[in-house]
Amino acid sequence: MTLNTQAITPHLGAFVCGLDLSRQPDAALRDALEDAMARHLVLVIQDQDLSPAQLRDLALTFAPPHLHHADDNVHFADGLPEVLELRRDAEGGHLFGGGGWHADVTFQKPAGYFSFLHARVLPPVGGDTGFASTVAAFNALSPGMQAMLRGMSAVHSYDGPDRPEHKTLTVTHPVVRKHSMTGAEGLYLNTMFVTRFDGMTPEESQPLLLWLEAHMTRMEFTLRLRWQPGHLVIWDNRFTLHYPSNDFSGHPRRMIRCATLEPN
Ligand code: OGA
Ligand code: MN
Repeated sequence: MTLNTQAITPHLGAFVCGLDLSRQPDAALRDALEDAMARHLVLVIQDQDLSPAQLRDLALTFAPPHLHHADDNVHFADGLPEVLELRRDAEGGHLFGGGGWHADVTFQKPAGYFSFLHARVLPPVGGDTGFASTVAAFNALSPGMQAMLRGMSAVHSYDGPDRPEHKTLTVTHPVVRKHSMTGAEGLYLNTMFVTRFDGMTPEESQPLLLWLEAHMTRMEFTLRLRWQPGHLVIWDNRFTLHYPSNDFSGHPRRMIRCATLEPN
């Protein structure tokens, strides 16, 4: 089965139209979506209208859910433990993941896999989300830098840098990962959760980490999505970073989100 896709940039992202994902995809559609994800890493599926339960059922055809712990800023959509409602009120306040480039749930194993984010209420302008391809970023490095990074690992911790490493949610991942379907290699680093390179101090790690973040988020490796009603975005947390833009006020923004974990 072929999807109706339109690439957004040469490296990253595609619009997909002509689907109704409110019913669970059959095997052929699931495989076509997985194949499109392997090629584009971010899919913007247009004209969807999914309830939290439908979003969960869609996500779970790909992988097991990440269950977020309860906290003051976390709202479960329709009380479902797999689906968060990301609420930002007209008065402002919390934007989930606001404040930097990151990938979801890199601080544990299994780590974050595909995240599913569906627009429910959007501000008239603003609240765009940036995405960056860490594959394009890796490919643009010199052979010497690529070889060095292939030999390195990094420590990812829930509370991020400048805080003690979290007692349970701290893991070490290789800095370069390879896509099992395409063989593409990508940088697996983000400044929200990486505290240091394995075997090095945070101070030693910081200059290279910051340089790599600047490199990964170069314009050529990114896209900026202006959300439209009905958009459902799926991104691959293993090979992309994303950035929620906290640039609007006076209007609410509501999204529903289901994050999944790498299948074994
Ligand atoms: C997320 C996230 C981005 C946004 O759901 O993990 O970072 O623009 N959201 O809401
Ligand atoms: Mn996020």
